[in-house]
Amino acid sequence: MEVLLSLTLIFGVCIVFKNWIAAFIIRWKYSKYSNVYMSPSFSPIQGERAVIKAQGKQKYRFWHLMEVAMKKPDCDIRIVFSGTKPLFLIYSAQACKEFFKLVPTRIDRHSNHLKHFGRMNKGAIDQIKSSPMWKSRRDKIMKVIGINFSTKFIPLILDSFHEISATWRENQWFNITNQMKKVMFSVTTKILFGKDIPVENAYTYITSCGDTIHITLEEYFSKLIEDLEKSSALIKNRLCPYLSKAGLTTSNKACEQNIENLWEILLKICQSSEDQDSVFKHRTNVCYDKKIVLMDIITVYIAGYDPTSHALASILFNIKANERVFTKVMKEVKSNYDRNEKSIDAKRKMLDSCEYLDMTIKESLRHSNPAFFSLGYKSLDEISICGVTIPKGATIFQCLHALHYNSNEWINPMEFIPERFDPDSHYFTTPSSNGTKQRSRYSYNPFSTNLRRCPGKNLAMLELKLIVAEFLSKFNYTISPEQISNKYLRFSLRSQFSCIISITGTI
Ligand code: HEM
Ligand SMILES: *[C@@H]1O[C@H](CO)[C@@H](O)[C@H](O)[C@H]1NC(C)=O
Ligand SMILES: *[C@@H]1O[C@H](CO)[C@@H](O)[C@H](O)[C@H]1NC(C)=O
Ligand SMILES: *[C@@H]1O[C@H](CO)[C@@H](O)[C@H](O)[C@H]1NC(C)=O
Ligand SMILES: *[C@@H]1O[C@H](CO)[C@@H](O)[C@H](O)[C@H]1NC(C)=O
Repeated sequence: MEVLLSLTLIFGVCIVFKNWIAAFIIRWKYSKYSNVYMSPSFSPIQGERAVIKAQGKQKYRFWHLMEVAMKKPDCDIRIVFSGTKPLFLIYSAQACKEFFKLVPTRIDRHSNHLKHFGRMNKGAIDQIKSSPMWKSRRDKIMKVIGINFSTKFIPLILDSFHEISATWRENQWFNITNQMKKVMFSVTTKILFGKDIPVENAYTYITSCGDTIHITLEEYFSKLIEDLEKSSALIKNRLCPYLSKAGLTTSNKACEQNIENLWEILLKICQSSEDQDSVFKHRTNVCYDKKIVLMDIITVYIAGYDPTSHALASILFNIKANERVFTKVMKEVKSNYDRNEKSIDAKRKMLDSCEYLDMTIKESLRHSNPAFFSLGYKSLDEISICGVTIPKGATIFQCLHALHYNSNEWINPMEFIPERFDPDSHYFTTPSSNGTKQRSRYSYNPFSTNLRRCPGKNLAMLELKLIVAEFLSKFNYTISPEQISNKYLRFSLRSQFSCIISITGTI
């Protein structure tokens, strides 16, 4: 009897601690690889403690990702724990190269990794596996925002920028991350839903307590994403994921209702627009399932405006924090970019001629990459990358910060040096080659590479270049001195920092 009881007890404890034990087994199993890195400070409750430690030291929250790449450049794979769940991070250029050879036959998009805001658009192009149907939906969106098509959005982008920047007052510190978010919200909304949509209208939203409030579309999106993240982090929803998946816990119920309402709001907004150039109009002309069109538009919306606004804050910061770069960029913008030019083609040509600005933006996307990871991938088989066996069903991310700070590939990775992208500069080459060997093409990957790469790259690069050129040609500005002196600060997605600037005059 006693034996039975103890056995039952041990069995019970094992079930409860199953994930903990599994995590320890993984740590033991992978400790034999010299090219795999795992943080020594693993805690089964918190998972990776490095994030919390960095924050305490006024360092960017994901600092540890870059630090390991600089100190241990031969690490190909890193395993971090989210709670007890292992995530396999692709850390080196070689690992990245081998990774892409396996996409999509043995590694594909992880369709269930965005547990929080991914619930808003389940089944959208960023969340489904690679298939001909996925490809055709993606190509249709690219056809509207791709390089030869995005130039027509130049006036719209400038209008949004002027509308927001007109509210800035001189000699007051303000949050430029927040202001750029507003600009990008306006740009993205107009491109997707239509230039003429009413942005100030208020819509009904249900809070997590069940109250009804009225907020604008911009607030609706931010609030919904915030509430979805909160609800997925709630202890009761974590302990009983089945209840929350079925929408039975309160905050989840409100979220599900808000998602339902959002579909209707967006459909009404898009249908009321007369703008024939909007992504919605282009897409509904060839696809009659409006739900699919909206789903993909929401994805492009979320994927599009957040990284771009963080990139803008970083670019303005990095230019100002590096006097030499600032002088060079200003000289180029002054001579090549005419703010008063009205012709779209001429404007595009001016931007193309700003080569140093282009390198500066590229370097900012390396040094302060907006996305620290790619989206999630999953192994469909047991696979091997750089000799490391990864089990079937594992969650894998490319660690973009690590690729960009690998000290075998980059000379002084901490420094902000746009000349890294100038083929005539020795910064174009690897540190040990004395100017003879080019970096691996996988060492620079801000938009990811290959099949599932970011489809918004060309639009994003146009937006960044245009807004930065316009900003520099119009405003003189300073950055908060304590931010300038903190070399551990980055304004990437989910950074705890926001960029604080002051306009000191108009030019
Ligand atoms: C500076 C700005 C941006 C950066 C750094 C960025 C970066 C990325 C990265 C790293 C991924 C993940 C790719 C992967 O998992 O391999 C991604 C995916 C994606 N991005 Fe971007 N992005 C930016 C702007 C945009 C814009 C402006 C749009 C749309 C207009 C956009 C739309 C998307 C979509 C739809 C995906 C999902 C692709 C798929 O799963 O097939 N992004 N982006
Ligand atoms: C864009 O246009 C240029 C010239 O007008 C052409 O050479 C190029 O192939 C086009 N690219 C795409 C993706 O359509
Ligand atoms: C700045 O704006 C961002 C984005 O709106 C916000 O998340 C952040 O809390 C703000 N930071 C400060 C210091 O006001
Ligand atoms: C590096 O290259 C330069 C010129 O290309 C050469 O003069 C120098 O000796 C080289 N240094 C080493 C350590 O190979
Ligand atoms: C810009 O502002 C700085 C001080 O904040 C000042 O030294 C500089 O002369 C200004 N430049 C222009 C072109 O107004």
